This record gives sequence, structure tokens and C-alpha cells, in this order.
Amino acid sequence: LTDQSTYLVNGELKPWNGKVTEVYSSIHSVNAKGEYAPTLLGSIPYMTEETALEALDAASNAYSKGQGVWPTMKVSDRVACMEKFVSQMKLKRGEVVKLLMWEVGKNLTDSEKEFDRTVDYIYDTIEDYKQLDRDSAKFEKNDGVYAHIRRGPLGVVLCLGPYNYPLNETFALLIPALIMGNTAVFKPAKYGVLLISPLLEAFRNSFPSGVVNIIYGRGREVATPIMQTGKVDVLALIGNSKSAIALQDQHPHKNRLRLVLGLEAKNPAIVLPDADLDLTIDECIAGALSFNGQRCTALKVLYVHEDIIEEFNERFARRVDQLKFGNPWDEGVKLTPLPEPGKPAYIKELIDDATANGASIINEKGGETTENYIFPAVLYPVNKQMRVYHEEQFGPVVPILSFKEIDEPLDDMAESNYGQQVSLFGKDIQTIAPLIDTLVNLVCRVNLNSSCQRGPDVYPFTGRKDSAVSTLSVYDALRSFSIRTFVASKDN
Ligand code: G3H
Repeated sequence: LTDQSTYLVNGELKPWNGKVTEVYSSIHSVNAKGEYAPTLLGSIPYMTEETALEALDAASNAYSKGQGVWPTMKVSDRVACMEKFVSQMKLKRGEVVKLLMWEVGKNLTDSEKEFDRTVDYIYDTIEDYKQLDRDSAKFEKNDGVYAHIRRGPLGVVLCLGPYNYPLNETFALLIPALIMGNTAVFKPAKYGVLLISPLLEAFRNSFPSGVVNIIYGRGREVATPIMQTGKVDVLALIGNSKSAIALQDQHPHKNRLRLVLGLEAKNPAIVLPDADLDLTIDECIAGALSFNGQRCTALKVLYVHEDIIEEFNERFARRVDQLKFGNPWDEGVKLTPLPEPGKPAYIKELIDDATANGASIINEKGGETTENYIFPAVLYPVNKQMRVYHEEQFGPVVPILSFKEIDEPLDDMAESNYGQQVSLFGKDIQTIAPLIDTLVNLVCRVNLNSSCQRGPDVYPFTGRKDSAVSTLSVYDALRSFSIRTFVASKDN
């Protein structure tokens, strides 16, 4: 059991003697009565407004309106703190990976990848930050005015990460925010909360007091009062727009609030008649169903040209049925228990709605349900009246539409509330080239003959419309969490 009996505020690991929330895994084990039931993993503090505001005060004091030790610290010293943190973090790989599997059901390979990718992300951020500093040492001269341009921090960041990448995406917000000189109050994701526990000492040992403060509890009880103080300068959140808007609305001076948000997406795949079907099916399987489809970058709707729809559906459905379900540490497992207890029922609702409105489940195992899982259902033909067409399913169900003219998927994308990425499958460059020019105006990343994804992390990760505000990537996040400032002079 991992009982988080301390909390990190103002550089201290304080004992928590209050109420706790038990944390369960959707991976079942045998309970005392001999029945299969969710596994108890440990507990976390049940915090309320008082402790949340204690954490906020610590972050505010450490920032001290830009005059604190951290925002005024020399670049090389801030780099040293971050290097110390990452070297201590690396020692916790085994514990964090194990918790990733138990808490969110991510398979072993992907859990290890998430940890290693995060470590790489931190090292790359450090290097980019040093480069930013070298660049800012140069003078510019325009119209007789010399300028020394640099980037400065923004203030106090409230950082809220998602359960599907509770380490990697949370740190993709927190690490660049910190290295730029901001201070933070950080609330780990609801699922994937315990895996931060092994890292608390590394945070405490590496950063000055109050720079990183970690809170637990329900958003409404801890994040809302923090926002209401008006002392948050940046809301950094990866999750859903409903929470982002609700929090933003609590801030008394909204125009002072910077937003760094990674939100929903409904990334389509467009499969042209000349697509290489072996490759397309491999990519669509991975794109739609890696980590059970619980990725903002997942392919959430497939548009397949009518000339090849029959063959595509038959082969795709067969391949989906071959995917292996099991516990995250089992060999070859691709589908794993879903961390959100209500998710199988929600996916079932989407399937029922689609089948009631004319779609069929075209794979044999589609929709088979256990308490903690629902087998991916491949639905065809899907239409715009169905919920699965509009809602971001974030789980194991794959809607397929066929199209005759390319304008059909393009018009749907233009009407969509989302605009993160698209995958385009086809061979003929004369067809593809003009399409790319249109697609890049609808989304932010066009993947040619490959599924949608965020990485490599040096490339911009963002979206249009309701999919994102600001850009995250090693390079862009440093800019999203800072502001350009400069010293101007008539002499150099
Ligand atoms: O949930 C959205 C993630 O950013 C997806 O990242 O494409 O690396 O799986 P990924």
C-alpha cells in the first residue's frame, strides 16, 4: 500500500493527520470475502480549502511578485536544481512504473516508455532553456535602439494534469513552468495520483521552499478556492474544457490569467482509395486503440473511401478481435482495465445509441463487457445523428464512416469543435499535396500514412478551436510559460 501521509508545502513534507481518500485500482484482486473486487492501493490526503490556500500562499511567497529567490535566480543555478531533481527522479523508475500499471492500467512497455520519455523531456527542456539563455545574451539593434531581449516568468502556476499520462503530461506542464522561474501549486490527476508520492522527496530536496507545492483533493474543494483568490497567474491544465472553463470563470481578473491548456480532440483518419491497406490498418489500430483509446491524440473517427470500405472493415474488424486483453504486466497485452469505473457503461451507451440509429457492431467481440472493461466495438455505418460521432469517446469504440468525395470529411472537420490532428492515408502525391494545404488550416498536425500522436516531443503540440490554448513541446512550452521582456538602450 502507498499511503501518502505527508504533503509537500513550502519545502516541508508535513504530516497529514486529517481525513483521507482511499485509492483503488480497477485491476481486480480477491478480497477478504473471496470475491474479485477493485484493489486497494493506498490513500491520499482529503484536503479542503484551508490546505489548498496554504499551498497557494507558499507558491505566492516564493514568487514574491517576481522578487523571490527562484524567479531571480541565475540560469545556471536553476538548471542545477532541475538536474538534481531529474537525477533523483531516475532512482524511482521501478516504483513509478509499477504504480502507473496499477493506477491507470497502462501496459508495462508503455509505462516504462512514459517514465523514460519524461526523463528525456526534462533533459531536453534543460538544454533548450540553456539555449534560450545563450540567445538572450545577444544584442539586437533596430532604428538606432539596442535591445537585450530575454524571457521572464509569469508568476504562480496552478498545474493540473490528466490521468492518461499522469507523469508525462503533468510534467510537460510543470517542468517548463518551473525552469522559467515560475512557482507552482500542483494537483496530481485523480487516477495516477499515488505515483507522484515516490517523487515528493526529490521535489523537496531539489527546489527552494515554496517553489513546488503539491495538493490533493477534489477540484471543486481545492482548485476552485485557489482560483477565486485571483493569485494564480497561469492555469496550466491538460484535461477537459468543462473543467478549464469552470476554473477560469472563478478568477476575479480573467484578463490577467494566462492559459496553457491541452483539451479534447476528435482526430479523424481519412483513408483514400489508393491507401496501402496493410500499413493503414496497422496505424489505425494503434491510433484508435493504444491505451484503450484513452489519448487525446487517438484516432476517434475513421473516414474510409467507399471503393475500399468493405475490405477495410473486414480486415480492421478481424484485427481488433485479435487484440489481447489482460493485466498491464502480462506479455503481449494491448487492452487493459479502464481506470474510470464509469467508462465501460459510458462506452456501452455510445454503442447502444449508434446501433439504435442504424449502425452495426462489425467485429465479433465488440461490446463484450466485464466489470472493468468493454471490448472495443467497431461501428459502421456511423452518421451525424449519433453521439459517438460528436462525443470524444476517450475509450475503446471505433466509429467508421464511408465517403465518396473528399469534401465530405473536410466539411465535417471544418464544422467540428475540435482541431488537433488528422491522419491521411494514400499514395498519389498529386491528390495528397493540395489536400495538405487545406488540412493544415483545419488542424495543427497532418500525419501522412501514420496515426496521430504527440511525439517526438520537440514538435509543437497544440490544436485549434476547443482543442488547445498555447503550445506544448520542449521548445514551445518554455515560451508558453514566459513572457518576452527587454532592456533597450541607445548605446550598446
Ligand atoms: O492525451 C493526449 C496525449 O498527449 C497523447 O500523447 O500521442 O504521445 O500518446 P501521445
